[in-house]
Formats: sequence, C-alpha cells, structure tokens
Amino acid sequence: MARVFSGIKPTGDMHLGNYLGAVRRWVDSQPAPATPEARQHEAIFCVVDLHAITMPWDPAELTESTLRLATMLMAAGLEEDRSLLFVQSHVRAHAELTWLLNCVASFGELRRMTQFKDKSAKQGDGEVESLTVGFFDYPVLMVSDILLYDTAEVPVGDDQRQHVELARDVAIRFNSRFGDTFVVPKAVFPPIGARVMDLQRPDAKMSKSEDSPQGTILVLDDPKAIERKIKSAVTDSGSEIRHDRDEKPGVSNLIEIYGAVTGASIADVEKEFDGKQYGVFKVAVADAVVEFLRPVQARYAQLAADPGEVERRLAVGADAATALADPVLARATRAAGLLPRRSA
Ligand code: TYM
Repeated sequence: MARVFSGIKPTGDMHLGNYLGAVRRWVDSQPAPATPEARQHEAIFCVVDLHAITMPWDPAELTESTLRLATMLMAAGLEEDRSLLFVQSHVRAHAELTWLLNCVASFGELRRMTQFKDKSAKQGDGEVESLTVGFFDYPVLMVSDILLYDTAEVPVGDDQRQHVELARDVAIRFNSRFGDTFVVPKAVFPPIGARVMDLQRPDAKMSKSEDSPQGTILVLDDPKAIERKIKSAVTDSGSEIRHDRDEKPGVSNLIEIYGAVTGASIADVEKEFDGKQYGVFKVAVADAVVEFLRPVQARYAQLAADPGEVERRLAVGADAATALADPVLARATRAAGLLPRRSA
C-alpha cells in the first residue's frame, strides 16, 4: 500500500472546502483497522501549526484552534488504529529538514509560488516588505512535511498542486545531487470537490471564514446558518441548472457541492434538477449539506467534551511520527555530508 501523508493549517475553522477537497479523502484512505501492535502507519495526518504562524497570529487562539482542529479531524473519522494524527511542532524533524532543504530549493522557485505571488499582488510594495521570511519559505516547510515520511501520495485540494510539484522537484534534485534519499511523492485529488468556491464570490475558492463569512460554510455551522448561506449564494443570470464553470460559476459550484455530498455525478445532478427553479435547487443543496455534516457535528460534540483524550492521542501520534521521521532526517543529513554525531 502507498504511504499517504497530508496536513491542514489551524487557521480559522475547518470549512466545507477543506472537508470535501481533502479531509474526507484522508478518512477514506485509512487502511483497515490494525491491532495496536501491528500498526502500519500507512496513513499519516498532521495539524500544521508551524504553517499557521507565517502570518500574524494570536498565541492563545493558536493553541485553541490547534486542539479544535485535531478534534474535528477525529470527528471526521480519523481513527487511532488506522492512521497517525499529530501536531507538526511536536516533531522537531520538520523544522530541521526545512533548513537543509532551504539550501536546495531556490529563491526563484519560491518567488514563483502562486500563493506568494497573489499575496504580494494584493499588497502594496511597503507591505510586501513586511511579509515574514516564514511566509515566503512556507512551501519548503511543506516539502519537508511530505518528504520526511517517505510519502507516496498526498491527498489535497487543487490549490496545493503547485506545492506538491515543488516537493517532487526538490526530492528529485536532492536525489540526483546526493544519491537516492527521498521517495518522490505525487498529489492526488478528489474527482469532485477539489476546488469548492466561495458562495458569494464563485470566482474565488472557499477559504477562511474571516475573509468571507457568508460565502464560507464551516463544518460546525448549525443547520440554520448553512441554509441561510446557501439560499443567499450568488447564482448566475438565466435559470438553467447546468454545469459550466465559465458561464455559470455560481450554479456550477452548487452542483459540485451537491454532487460531492450526495455521491451523484455532475450529469446526474443536472438531470435531477432539469427544468427546476434555482430556489428549489438551493433548498435541496442546503438539506443535503446539513445531513452530510450532521454526524460529524455530533461526534465533534462528544469528543470536544474530553480534550484530555484528544491530547493523549496527539501525544501517541507525535511519538510514532518522530520514530518514522528521525531516520529519514538522518538519512538526508548523512547524504548531504553533515558529520554524524557519535555518542559521547
Ligand atoms: P490548508 O490548511 O489551506 O487546507 C487543507 C486542505 O484543504 C484543501 N482545501 C480545499 N479543497 C477544495 N476546495 C477549497 N476551497 C479548499 N480550500 C482548502 C487544501 O487543498 C488542503 O488539501 N499548505 C497546506 C497544508 C500543508 C500540507 C502539508 C498539505 C502543510 N504541509 C503537507 C499536504 C502535505 C494548506 O495550507 O492547506
């Protein structure tokens, strides 16, 4: 079985885009339950808190949102006997490998990253100057996350495509310069839901709720809020319920959401709502999303009542992840010629 690794940032709360684009696939990628003694660690998932501090942050909020996100991932269905779940900063190898790979990735490569380009384009010159070095370097940290676990497959949404490409490029470069060291990973995307768009601005991807609270459905939103947001979603002129991302981005997004949560194909959704009004369609989408999220919300409520248990599981995950990552880090530092430390 191919080793799977992926991560999610504890910035804002988990939204429907995260869930459909990535987390749901993580849950499905877990192998059959293993006994604790025979754990295979073939599916590894990480709350990437070091990525959350590349933009200004509030320390108390970071602590809380890290725990909340880990709880949500467990509620979504990551199970202790089927996968590893840990917090990035608990495994030191991530930061250490980043330094080594900083000296392999190039400045030009990072400057071409869409996320950096978008952010710099949105800000004035003066503000670009004040973006942190960490923000610029973020993709190398992500490369390290992936390469540290001999990862074969990285299940992500479409917006992470370029970062996983960078991981491939850096792995191939390192291997050709220093000998076979890293497994070269590849990204895998869901067939539908890889790019869930903002309900109010269907030309932008759904993202953190602070940017567009009405356009973002949070996994923990109550049914009323979900209904309200979907009912007020921007639709397109005309009245046909037809999938066409260029001509009808708003309706196409709702068709994809409906398909992703019910398991129907785009063609099936078009057929089901052929000749129906937008209003009727929106009610159906809202109902389907509410039903889809209901079990996750119920499990979250149970798990959130026992944060000690969540922290225990994260500690087990961090130990197991450290045991996997340290030998890979040692392999890389040795290949690069850093003098191995002997015991005193
Ligand atoms: P993050 O935290 O922004 O998002 C987590 C996952 O959710 C996906 N996603 C979406 N999918 C569909 N539609 C959307 N609107 C949408 N918004 C987000 C993302 O593609 C992602 O898969 N840099 C990463 C985290 C990361 C990581 C890693 C991922 C750090 N190290 C190593 C994989 C492997 C990020 O910021 O994702």
